[in-house]
Amino acid sequence: MTNRYSYLSHLECARCGQRHGAHVPAGLCTECGSPLVARYDLDALRAEVDREEVADRPWELWRYHELLPVSSPDAEQKLGEVVTPMLRMRAYAGELGLEELWVKDESATPTSTFKARGAAVGVSRAAELGMRRIAMPTNGNAGAAWASYAARAGLRALIVMPADAPMVTRAECLSAGAELHLVDGVISDAGAIVARAVADGDWVDVATLKEPYRIEGKKTMGLEIVEQLGWTLPDVVIYPTGGGVGLIGIHKAIAELLELGWVEGEMPRFVAVQSEGCAPIVRAFENGESSSEFFADSCTVAFGINVPKPLGDFMVLDTLYTTGGTAVSVSDEDLLAELRVVGASEGLFVCPEGAAAMVAARHLTKSGWIAPHDRVVVLNTGAGIKYPDCVDVDLPVLPPGYVLPVVPEVR
Ligand SMILES: Cc1ncc(COP(=O)(O)O)c(C=O)c1O
Ligand SMILES: [Zn+2]
Repeated sequence: MTNRYSYLSHLECARCGQRHGAHVPAGLCTECGSPLVARYDLDALRAEVDREEVADRPWELWRYHELLPVSSPDAEQKLGEVVTPMLRMRAYAGELGLEELWVKDESATPTSTFKARGAAVGVSRAAELGMRRIAMPTNGNAGAAWASYAARAGLRALIVMPADAPMVTRAECLSAGAELHLVDGVISDAGAIVARAVADGDWVDVATLKEPYRIEGKKTMGLEIVEQLGWTLPDVVIYPTGGGVGLIGIHKAIAELLELGWVEGEMPRFVAVQSEGCAPIVRAFENGESSSEFFADSCTVAFGINVPKPLGDFMVLDTLYTTGGTAVSVSDEDLLAELRVVGASEGLFVCPEGAAAMVAARHLTKSGWIAPHDRVVVLNTGAGIKYPDCVDVDLPVLPPGYVLPVVPEVR
């Protein structure tokens, strides 16, 4: 039964299809151990709500509350989750040879990455279902976001991250009062420590896809993209893929909007972008596999996409295959150079993960996979200022009174 604020009806296993109740705390499928996804009563929603009703609501992710799991406005934990800008990139698109290129810029979210979306919805739902203590492994940004929302909701948070994760995310976790641990390893090593703590104590594991509501938060990127394009669809969505939740979420959003009839047209082609230093999805895609192999000794400056074995790999790969999409890996050298090109041509300091997605747009346009008239949306998943080391700022310091050489303007 739905409650009209949220049309959430049940949970469904992404692998075996088993139905689970949505109104009690849930982790993985009890039949097969795979992720659960939220399902909504879309027939009732179609009959009872028009998309025009959404237009009058506050410009925040909660405007889509019928398609979110939280059951009342009182249960929404808010830190200012604005609808983020869709910026038309004209200069940069011209350089790539594209007519219509948009960046969905997630810098404006609380904690400055799109991870706030999963945390806002995931923590709100966890608190609503009575959870008090949540634990998770992270590459940094998700931990910062979940720690912040947990504090807001009065929940305890246990966070484990690789020691190499962006330094500022440690400060964010600690300032939010979380219990933070660093591990000499990658996110899967952090995950093993969390799993053990969960087994031994009374923490709830909210790792990527081990609970069903993080996807729902990330789904709002897709809802916003469609509404911001005037309830129309792009041709291509390019996403920097670690755990893959954002990609799965955007695809789910569009599938729900198509089923509701709130948008018409073809499902966009999805592109999963990874780093050459951690490319399990790309390898699997190239071999036509339905799941990935552990990518050993992974390493990249685009830290958020250093996930050697994503739990939802089969969901990401399925999205790529069914939408006619593709998977691309890019080098750290190329993405660091692209970060500067985007900054200089558009004034946008993108995160390295976002820069990786831009490199993919460049390569795919050059190879002809993206046609010049394709309408392309690239996700910049966070703010470049969270990764200050991505730009070399080692400059000579001038003595006072130094006279700069005159450089004539090049016309
Ligand atoms: C900035 C940034 N971009 C992308 C990702 C990858 O996210 P997803 O798990 O949705 O693939 C992360 C994950 O940590 C991230 O922090
Ligand atoms: Zn199952």
